[in-house]
Amino acid sequence: MNLSRNLDDVRQQFEERAFDYDGLIPRLIPQYREQHEIILQLIDFETHANIKVLDLGAGTGILSAMILQAFPQAKVTAFDMAQNMLKVCQTNLSAFGHRLTLQQGNFAEDDFGSGYDLVVSGLAIHHLDGAGKQTLFKKLFQSMNSGGILLIRDIVTGATPRLTEQYEQLWRQYMKANGEDDAAWFQNYLKEDIPSSVEEQTQWLAAAGFADVACHWRYLNFAIFGGIVPR
Ligand SMILES: C[S@@+](CC[C@H](N)C(=O)[O-])C[C@H]1O[C@@H](n2cnc3c(N)ncnc32)[C@H](O)[C@@H]1O
Repeated sequence: MNLSRNLDDVRQQFEERAFDYDGLIPRLIPQYREQHEIILQLIDFETHANIKVLDLGAGTGILSAMILQAFPQAKVTAFDMAQNMLKVCQTNLSAFGHRLTLQQGNFAEDDFGSGYDLVVSGLAIHHLDGAGKQTLFKKLFQSMNSGGILLIRDIVTGATPRLTEQYEQLWRQYMKANGEDDAAWFQNYLKEDIPSSVEEQTQWLAAAGFADVACHWRYLNFAIFGGIVPR
């Protein structure tokens, strides 16, 4: 697969879906909102900590909003390659004013800044292949402060091909039960998404230098995992 062409297709998809993304995504992703509670619980900074945050593949800003709300001194950079997603993000999060910075770019190639205390990424990194993920994890490690927390929620494969297939069937049933065309979404997934297993990704995070690397939550082919930058 040509990775940059794949990312162009992905960007185009999100440009087109930006304006109904927020209503659509909970119908496609099981336990989508429940995941937010867990992510928030795992961010163990003081409420009034002056933290610098990166939301990688921020989309319409769902994770950014949650963090800006919970940490009133936090400053968040919402980084995304799709201009329309960032437009919706700006509208949705306008109440946070200068605490939110929007940055358009491709995190596989472009600079996303440094000095971060917290990096979150939701449903975005699976658009990179294994080598791309490993390079990104190293780049993320370099971009974060010591004690920094990385939390990724993403679509993943099972530990074996049989488990992957079983999870994918159950995922399709979830989409179908919500009135979605599961066959069409699944075709799209096969064409554009390059999920890796939790097992591989936690190894890559540890190899990049992260400590306390773990999978914190998992439901079928969705997981929340990450690590911290050692002090
Ligand atoms: C499924 S949305 C996720 C939005 C939000 N983070 C969430 O958890 O619901 C994925 C977002 O990641 C962005 N994205 C995917 N690959 C990217 C890349 N290489 N660089 C920047 N943004 C990317 C897409 O444009 C899209 O807005």
